[in-house]
Amino acid sequence: MGETTIRADDEADPGTERTGDADPTRPPAPGGLPLLGNVHELASDALGFYERRAATHGGVVRYDVFGTESYLVTDPAAIRRILVDDHDRYEKGSMPRDQLGGLLGDGLFLAEGDDWREQRTAIRSAFFRERVAEYGGPMVDHARRAAASWDDGDVVDVHAAATEYAFDVLAESLLGSDVERERETVRAAAESVTERFDTRRLTSFLPVWVPTPANRRYRRRLAALRSTIRDLVAERRAAGPPANPGAADDLLGTLVAAADIGAMDDDRLVDNAVTFLFAGHETSALGLAYTLYCLADRPAFQDRVRREVAALDGDPEPADLRECPALTAAVDEALRLYPPVHSFFREPTEPVTLGGHRVPAGVVVTLSPWAVHRDERWWDDPETYRPERWLRDGPAGPAHGDDAPGPAVGERPEYAYFPFGGGPRHCIGMRFARQELRLATATLLRRLRLEPVTADLSVRASANTRPAEPVRVRVRTRDESLEETDPAVSE
Ligand code: HEM
Repeated sequence: MGETTIRADDEADPGTERTGDADPTRPPAPGGLPLLGNVHELASDALGFYERRAATHGGVVRYDVFGTESYLVTDPAAIRRILVDDHDRYEKGSMPRDQLGGLLGDGLFLAEGDDWREQRTAIRSAFFRERVAEYGGPMVDHARRAAASWDDGDVVDVHAAATEYAFDVLAESLLGSDVERERETVRAAAESVTERFDTRRLTSFLPVWVPTPANRRYRRRLAALRSTIRDLVAERRAAGPPANPGAADDLLGTLVAAADIGAMDDDRLVDNAVTFLFAGHETSALGLAYTLYCLADRPAFQDRVRREVAALDGDPEPADLRECPALTAAVDEALRLYPPVHSFFREPTEPVTLGGHRVPAGVVVTLSPWAVHRDERWWDDPETYRPERWLRDGPAGPAHGDDAPGPAVGERPEYAYFPFGGGPRHCIGMRFARQELRLATATLLRRLRLEPVTADLSVRASANTRPAEPVRVRVRTRDESLEETDPAVSE
């Protein structure tokens, strides 16, 4: 197609969207090497690649991976069409299934069509507001325990600590009182999953059937986890139905109740238990780690949050979160700047038009919260952590001076911010995660002050947005008077 010359022109002048294609509605495909396409750019810095593409080539841009066409969509209106208005013309497609199918099976995350719809309907109630509020207890308890394990002046890797925290919370929310007994099996499986999907290890790129020691461990431990879940299900059935099946007290109870009314078979039930454990804990851990890192880096705003949570009657309860706008802004802004899911994928099941461009059926469409959350068209000073932009009363201090906060949330397109995806397939754990991040942060900041140690956070695109290095903060447990730091005069 003579693309090399044309792409070179495009790089020189991004405004010239020549594609060398007879069809003018085909999206531009700048850059890229013959055969390899954009693999080199994606492999070295996928996040930067998405961000640059969005900034210079607009809302829908083509890229190639070893000759396979993909389309990066960063226009919020087009994202809304994909996720909401035309969601039934897309499926998740083969890419996530190839990568995660062996782990998540046919559970909610990977299911398609009617199978997905039935599962989602059956599981929904576990994430209703009042049910999620019941998980507030473990969310606060585990944060309290973490805080108690640190001494004044300790340097803590908040990514490691948050991973342990989020895992404990999810295991307990899933298994309830059975968690103590099964802790080791669940932990061993989690350790092997982390090892298996660690993109820094070359062996992670080998198929799971290749008998490397890590793969063998992974298969053995995952099988043990699945068999443990089956045993627990059998025990619960033997114990008889809960008095009120609509109010099972943990996620496994909801899944058992759903299976018992025929909404899913027992294989799906186990797939979903594994899905919740693994779709939910790394993402939440990253959200928490980035929130704590960002707050350590913005001491005046941290004090504003500390003041807010210190004013609560005791450790926070889910209902208190409504009274904590600064805390909520701190979390929402961390999820903007460092969305734990940097991108996710869809495949149109029929040809579609996006942003005026023709997109064929079956290609990979990439939606990138990372790129959209850092787009200057929607975000003022996008690379800076500025939780004030979420608050009606605007900036917290003179450092922002004339620099007014970004447009109010309602004034920017809805899909300029989508850390949890959107439409009918949005993250089912969103309410759980937002509650967890805020309860954990509040519980910690009622006891601790955080000081920055890691100066420049660098992140890499693995399956999720992972930190490239440990994320270190120093914890101060001595109760420094909050009155000393007035956010209106510091920073
Ligand atoms: C900050 C934390 C989290 C983030 C940023 C996040 C992000 C996302 C995103 C972007 C999607 C949509 C993917 C797509 O459309 O392809 C998703 C789906 C999903 N998430 Fe989360 N998630 C988080 C926490 C959780 C938690 C705590 C759970 C479970 C307890 C969970 C379970 C799921 C499941 C099961 C799906 C698939 C839903 C479906 O397809 O119907 N997530 N998540």
